[in-house]
Order: sequence, then C-alpha cells, then structure tokens
Amino acid sequence: MNFGTSSLDFSILPYIEGVNPPVTKPNPSFLTDIGEEGIRDLLDRFYMGLFESPIKNIFPTTKEAMNIAGQHSADFFIQICGGPQYFNQNRGAPQMRGRHAPFRITPHARLHWLVTFEEALQPIIENKLSSEENIQSFWNYLNVFSQWMINSKD
Ligand code: HEM
Repeated sequence: MNFGTSSLDFSILPYIEGVNPPVTKPNPSFLTDIGEEGIRDLLDRFYMGLFESPIKNIFPTTKEAMNIAGQHSADFFIQICGGPQYFNQNRGAPQMRGRHAPFRITPHARLHWLVTFEEALQPIIENKLSSEENIQSFWNYLNVFSQWMINSKD
C-alpha cells in the first residue's frame, strides 16, 4: 500500500496496430542516479520476474541462461541511458525489432512484460535511488518502445 505522494504514472499506453510512436530515450540521469550496478540489479530482478511470469515460455528455460540474457539486456539499457556502448561491443548493432523477430511478441505479452518491469522498479522507488522524474522517463521509454517490439496478434 502506498500512502506517499508519488506522482509516478505506470499506466500502459494502448497498442495500436501499425503505429510505432516516436521514442524518447530515458534521462541519462537515471543511470547517474542508480549507476551501472543499479541497472544490472534492475535487469537481474526483471529477468527473474520474467522467469516466473505468464510469458516465461518465450524466454530461456534455465536460470543460468536468464542471468546471461539479463546481462545482455543490462548492457543495452546502460547504453540507451547514455552510458558506455557495452551492447554494441558485446552483441553488435541493437536492431531491436530484428532481434525480437524470432519470438512471438503479442500485445498481451507486452502487458505482462511491462507489469514485470514495473515490479522490478519497485526497490528503486522504495529506496528513493532515483528521482521520480528520472524513473518516469525510464518508464515512458519502456511504455513506448515496447509497442515497437510487437510482431504478432494475440
Ligand atoms: C522497451 C522495449 C524492449 C527492449 C528495449 C528490449 C530489449 C531487449 C534486449 C536488449 C534483448 C537482448 C538481445 C540480445 O542480446 O541479442 C532482448 C531480448 C529479448 N526480448 Fe526484449 N526488449 C523490449 C521489449 C520486449 C517485449 C515487449 C518482449 C516480450 C513481451 C520482449 C521479449 C524478448 C525476448 C523473448 C528476448 C530473447 C531472450 C533474451 O535474450 O532476453 N522484449 N530484448
């Protein structure tokens, strides 16, 4: 239960088929606030959440493989927040839509993906590791760009 005065808005934008709205990158100060280790911890939590989520079937099937996947994703998020180009160095050009093409990503799967991310963000919020403005900018990025990954109908 939250009795605080948080102004964070985790509402999810509706997906409209064929529309890929313009994406704004997260504020670089989100990375400055929580640090690279904070991003890696966030992605660890997120991937462990995905491992137990209703969309686990599209992800790797062992915790070890999920840890590795989480670290690749962390490389990407550090980079998109203005940090070192770890993803480019380790995995090559992002080409996110192409990388997601082998997986069946439906509007419904996107909802679970976003809700799982929201849960992973909670310790950052509770421990006030970043400002609400920066957390909101990170969420807004996920909210919009996740629409771009959808490649299948429900
Ligand atoms: C903001 C939107 C998203 C971003 C930035 C993102 C980012 C990434 C990254 C960086 C990878 C690793 C690619 C690699 O190492 O080659 C990845 C993989 C993957 N993503 Fe996403 N993703 C997004 C949305 C989604 C959504 C909505 C789903 C499904 C509901 C999804 C499912 C997957 C799957 C199944 C993989 C392959 C397994 C893995 O390596 O994690 N992604 N994503």
